[in-house]
Amino acid sequence: MGKFTTLGEHILHSQYAKANSTGELTHLLSCIRLAAKVVNSEINKAGLVDEIMGKMGKTNIQGEDQQKLDDYANRKFIDAFEARSQICGVASEEEDSYIAFEKESCRNGKYVVLIDPLDGSSNIDVNVSIGTIFSIYRRVTPIGSKAELKDFLQKGTEIVAAGYVVYGSSTIMVLSVGQGVHGFTFDPSVGVFYLSHDNIQFPKSGSIYSVNEGNYPFFSDGIKSYLRYCKEHDDASGRPLTSRYIGSMVSDFHRNMIKGGIYLYPSTTLAPQGKLRLLYECKPMAFLAEQAGGIATDGQNRILEIEPTELHQRCPFIVGSPDMVNKLKEFL
Ligand code: AHG
Ligand code: MN
Ligand code: MN
Repeated sequence: MGKFTTLGEHILHSQYAKANSTGELTHLLSCIRLAAKVVNSEINKAGLVDEIMGKMGKTNIQGEDQQKLDDYANRKFIDAFEARSQICGVASEEEDSYIAFEKESCRNGKYVVLIDPLDGSSNIDVNVSIGTIFSIYRRVTPIGSKAELKDFLQKGTEIVAAGYVVYGSSTIMVLSVGQGVHGFTFDPSVGVFYLSHDNIQFPKSGSIYSVNEGNYPFFSDGIKSYLRYCKEHDDASGRPLTSRYIGSMVSDFHRNMIKGGIYLYPSTTLAPQGKLRLLYECKPMAFLAEQAGGIATDGQNRILEIEPTELHQRCPFIVGSPDMVNKLKEFL
């Protein structure tokens, strides 16, 4: 597909190529595209509209402060899903439990969606890049019934499509339906996502490491010695590396995938399972990473092969350029 390919055309093209495609995934992805545009437009008003900035005054089930924009994005995506009939249920970081849509048309939907409506929400009030992460699975319960927990607790190897949006210096949607990773930059003047990054590949190696190093005293000895290695002076291997940490995983991941780098949110003595959520943060990014030639691990296991047990379970997360992740593993 050539210049001026839109996200819509790309989705149609990738689905038409499949013999048994019913068009449902195409509709579902276009629904995500629409909700992303709505959320993007609201994010761009942050600072102008009082309803967007600041805290909601309540916490989510994980005890984190909910921002107004977390809540707004959550509602916009869920409303968009319910208005269509391809999805029987959704699980979100901002909802205590999964939502099984009651509508008959939704019960006939064959997909579930897992979503982090706004990633990096501590950055909202300071005009720093934030994002949305989503993944789509085929339900395992019978079509026509209500979605159940087991529809959401599937291994990452079962992901049908995953992607993210970065609301940054420009807005980009990065998507994979299992045929590589492609980026579409939003042109606000026409309201269209255009293909801007065709077939993105993680560079084999890179010079960036991304970690909240304030947690250093709480890291394992292996992670500590890897971080010391990153900072050692060795011209032959291009060290010290460059440290870059935005605090929006989706933005840190995006930069590292384009430039070459490694992102880590390992376990700490205070949080043995790390901070990031396996289902709607780690697994979709792991799917994209692998589709782009990168590696995603919890230190021991391939993220996509971890069997989930809970909706909001956390997981240590290391993702990035293959040579860099393999190097880190030598220290563990
Ligand atoms: P969320 O805003 O969805 O709760 O996710 C925040 C996550 C992730 O985006 C980021 O990389 C990480 O939290 C930052 O955590 P620290 O502030 O502990 O570094
Ligand atoms: Mn998040
Ligand atoms: Mn979030």
